[in-house]
Amino acid sequence: MAHQTDVLDLSELAWIVKSRYGVDLSCYRSTCLHRRVLHRMAMASCKDIEEYIGCLTSDSGEMEKLMDTITIHVTEFFRDRDVFRSLERGYVPALVDEKETSGHGVVRAWSAGCSTGEETYSMAMMIDRAVSRVSPDMHIEVYGTDVSEDSCRTARKGVYSDEKIEGLPADLRDGYFEKEGRSWKVASRLRSLVRFRPHDLFAASPYSHLDLIMCRNVLIHFEHEVREEVVTNFSGSLRDRGLLVLGKSETLSRPLEDLFELVKPTCKIYRKKPQEDHTRED
Ligand SMILES: C[S@@+](CC[C@H](N)C(=O)[O-])C[C@H]1O[C@@H](n2cnc3c(N)ncnc32)[C@H](O)[C@@H]1O
Repeated sequence: MAHQTDVLDLSELAWIVKSRYGVDLSCYRSTCLHRRVLHRMAMASCKDIEEYIGCLTSDSGEMEKLMDTITIHVTEFFRDRDVFRSLERGYVPALVDEKETSGHGVVRAWSAGCSTGEETYSMAMMIDRAVSRVSPDMHIEVYGTDVSEDSCRTARKGVYSDEKIEGLPADLRDGYFEKEGRSWKVASRLRSLVRFRPHDLFAASPYSHLDLIMCRNVLIHFEHEVREEVVTNFSGSLRDRGLLVLGKSETLSRPLEDLFELVKPTCKIYRKKPQEDHTRED
């Protein structure tokens, strides 16, 4: 018997999403996509996909809810503490030392699929602390991108509720945030280290020569072949021996092992293998 999720024809819905948001739903895992559309159909009390498409085209609020359900924005500051601890205690200080020794005056990092900015600001705080111990004049550039323009706007505002901030150690909270009414606002110094912009990971990467990319809890929503394309793009954006950090339940498939070495399996920290210089003549 066909499962209910197999019977939805999502072609018209996919066309609407592509034309309004530029997002290609064929890159997302089909079973998850179907489950999420069915969930929204039930919430909107629509009995079939035709009725739901009518609802989507007449109600822009439902369109936003569908996009939120498909892309899922759950995030938090220093999500997966052990991953940040591992970066903070070893990889990031080593990276800063390396930069200091080689005379490169800038550390560049990217939070790809940054949602509302918590991961991006966490990376900036982590790098800033490592840099201030060794070389306070070193520049820091941390980019946050997400396919959702709304999420990027929220990230750029940098205003977070008490609940979002309460898990942060007091020195980070007081050093990098200012109390604003019932919320906390990212202090201008931390804000000056980060840049947010909308970006679809299925498009060409906007950055190069990066030292660190964190792309966590994003690839899991994509079809296998698309994940490979996205990660190959990450390789092009990283400098040799730059770091790629994935989500806890995400792994690179075999063909990508040529590009990356898994250096900390429990935290899904990968290092880009040095690429051969194809311009060199033998
Ligand atoms: C679960 S959040 C992960 C946030 C953060 N990386 C973390 O782990 O806490 C997934 C984010 O990926 C974004 N996303 C989904 N598809 C994307 C795409 N094609 N390009 C860029 N971002 C995408 C979503 O909008 C969402 O904000």
